[in-house]
Amino acid sequence: MEALRNFAAAKNSGHKISMVTAYDAPSARLISGTGIDALLVGDSVMMAVHGHSDTLAATPAIMALHTAAVARGGPGCLIVADMPFLSARKGTAYALDTAAELLRSGAHAVKIEGAGSTVAVIRELVEAGIPVMGHLGLQPQSVRATDGYHVQAKNPSEVLELLDDAQALEKAGAFALVLECIPSEAAKKITAKLTIPTIGIGAGPHCDGQILVWHDLHALNPSFKPRFVRHFGDASAESRRALSAYAEAVHSGQFPNAEESF
Ligand code: KIV
Ligand code: NA
Repeated sequence: MEALRNFAAAKNSGHKISMVTAYDAPSARLISGTGIDALLVGDSVMMAVHGHSDTLAATPAIMALHTAAVARGGPGCLIVADMPFLSARKGTAYALDTAAELLRSGAHAVKIEGAGSTVAVIRELVEAGIPVMGHLGLQPQSVRATDGYHVQAKNPSEVLELLDDAQALEKAGAFALVLECIPSEAAKKITAKLTIPTIGIGAGPHCDGQILVWHDLHALNPSFKPRFVRHFGDASAESRRALSAYAEAVHSGQFPNAEESF
């Protein structure tokens, strides 16, 4: 599903869109042929890969570096790259420059958190030919203001506000919308009111698609298991098994053997 129009068509056809984050070439290579519809080079790379406790350290250069690595891996699906912290908040020129850097690095589209003053910026990017995915609900780039990672839109007035923002993003030309950590019923309502697909994470089963962070679905950090994460595999256990086997084989002199030597 490399084309954007397939993404749009999915909403009407009832095909649920499967998305995962990826940050490097070997991961992107693994995605090819698995049925994953699209991938996100998320600024969650700062947490999952770089060990930060939030995403604020991401810069356009870091996002471009990971985007280029993912594109070289040839995932054969739509590549969306995150616009990092503040890059859509410094005016249209800076946003255009950042989006251009990400597209030149191999992204097909960018994702921007929030509504408000970024709606006008998103409209400008879309008019310039840059496909934009929106992101509402929990906005990790605002954790310092929202005081951490909590479920959003828990009361009816907050749901209405969220719906307003979602419709503003749709009107500005966003091609899809991530909804993060909101109640299922809120996501259901917003999904029904929009013509663009919603992609949920911690937003229940009624979204048009789902996204999970690579390291979460693979249980690469097994102690991190919030309610919305399912471990679809245990790459951590497999990796530790391989590492122990290698260490043991080196210590015992079993590796390398004659066939593995020149
Ligand atoms: O950076 C990220 O991984 C994201 C997804 C969780 C939507 O923005
Ligand atoms: Na992100």
